[in-house]
Amino acid sequence: MKSFAILALLSAAVASAFASIVPRQTKGNLPAVTVKGNAFFTGDQRFYVRGVAYQPGGASDAKDPLLDIPSLKRDVANFKSLGINTIRVYTIDNSKNHDEGMKLLDDAGIYLALDANTPKYSLNRESAATLRRSYNEVYLQSVFATIDAFADYDNLLLFFSGNEVINERNNTNAAPFIKAVTRDMKQYISNRKSRSIPVGYSAADVAENIEAQALYFNCGTDDERSDFFAFNDYSWCDPSSFQISGWDKKVETYKDYSKPIFLSEFGCITNTRQWGEIASLYHTNMTGVYSGGLAYEYTVEPNGYGIVEINNGNIEPNADFDRLKAAYEKTANPTGNGGYKEKGSASQCPSESEEWEVKSTTLPAMPSNAAKYMNSGAGTGPGLQGAGSHFAGTASEGTATAGSGQATRTPNGSAATGTSNGAGAAAGLDIPVRMMGVGAASVLFGAVLLF
Ligand SMILES: *[C@@H]1O[C@H](CO)[C@@H](O)[C@H](O)[C@H]1NC(C)=O
Ligand SMILES: *[C@@H]1O[C@H](CO)[C@@H](O)[C@H](O)[C@H]1NC(C)=O
Ligand SMILES: *[C@@H]1O[C@H](CO)[C@@H](O)[C@H](O)[C@H]1NC(C)=O
Repeated sequence: MKSFAILALLSAAVASAFASIVPRQTKGNLPAVTVKGNAFFTGDQRFYVRGVAYQPGGASDAKDPLLDIPSLKRDVANFKSLGINTIRVYTIDNSKNHDEGMKLLDDAGIYLALDANTPKYSLNRESAATLRRSYNEVYLQSVFATIDAFADYDNLLLFFSGNEVINERNNTNAAPFIKAVTRDMKQYISNRKSRSIPVGYSAADVAENIEAQALYFNCGTDDERSDFFAFNDYSWCDPSSFQISGWDKKVETYKDYSKPIFLSEFGCITNTRQWGEIASLYHTNMTGVYSGGLAYEYTVEPNGYGIVEINNGNIEPNADFDRLKAAYEKTANPTGNGGYKEKGSASQCPSESEEWEVKSTTLPAMPSNAAKYMNSGAGTGPGLQGAGSHFAGTASEGTATAGSGQATRTPNGSAATGTSNGAGAAAGLDIPVRMMGVGAASVLFGAVLLF
């Protein structure tokens, strides 16, 4: 029996603590998505991300597109016409209620993949010192408030703990901080929410370190491992094929990966897009390892991606829109389970090298001032008007013991029963062959600007 009592108790507790800010949050009609093995599921049905990135105005402009209801209504009609089931939004205002927008999406059969960061509340990768400084409780309060604002909508598919924070050969030193934020988000959800919600990172496809990133975010104790791995892949440039794009090699590279993998952005615009990659992405050639992806992106912005033009509030789908729609239309998901793997083990942590400047597998400890949010809730989020977190609060002081991020409470407030998180989780997974450097260090677009 689903825990009505637990939910009621939870909302009562939250309501008394933050009476004025409790969002209404209706769960909606879509079934929640869960992770099983290396795939997503709704109940017994395999779930594939078939989506589009949605941030009209661009990520750095930072407007919440889910609060602009007239525009969202207009766009939802196009999402339905495209035949997608997911949108990715990079920036929202976590101080506002999202009932209306989330219901519009839910009614249209659309899930939300949501980035937990905003330009002003994020890690600052400028230097080793700014990275360390920006992992503080003011930042985590914003991230946790975003979780609070969306967790109860069942059509919230997943949270991204970061997007393209590592975007060069030489900034892999950000990895422990990204992984610490992922751990903290997972712990906040398991301590305080009534369902599990997948949390993972959206990586830039940097040829020199993407594979190490995949391994690193899935190594160590369970509390530290992401629930999925996603990357932004612009290596299929039409005219192309499964082999010419090198996507066949990538399937091989990640064949033993034990968590869902999907493309958090795709859609190279070097030549006219025919969206040939759709046929491969949802073919059993790939679905044993991949769970779909998100086409980049909905509106035409200065960087030239985009499948609709907005003129004076009117939407005009362009030829790219029509080709993408046609590609989705002629590509069904595989029948059955698509060849997913039910069981797999943690990856082996990559060792330090010139391409992977991460000395140890130890993570920074959650900043001690963030404990109050973990224990009592985040309260109101700063939204998009806040002063920013990069140099606020107090940075993390020490390193964490492996396993420190496992759930310490159940959502109803009692202490968790001592669930072991599987020592020895780092057991053997074949280290995949080195990924071929397809497309080299691609210039990627769509990153949330970090400073
Ligand atoms: C990393 O490399 C980029 C150029 O690729 C350079 O602009 C930047 O200064 C380098 N950063 C560090 C910390 O060396
Ligand atoms: C599937 O893989 C085979 C063998 O590599 C290839 O010939 C075929 O074109 C691929 N089909 C798709 C849709 O990727
Ligand atoms: C809270 O949840 C735990 C574990 O699910 C359960 O044992 C306990 O009885 C619950 N407490 C209350 C007050 O419902």
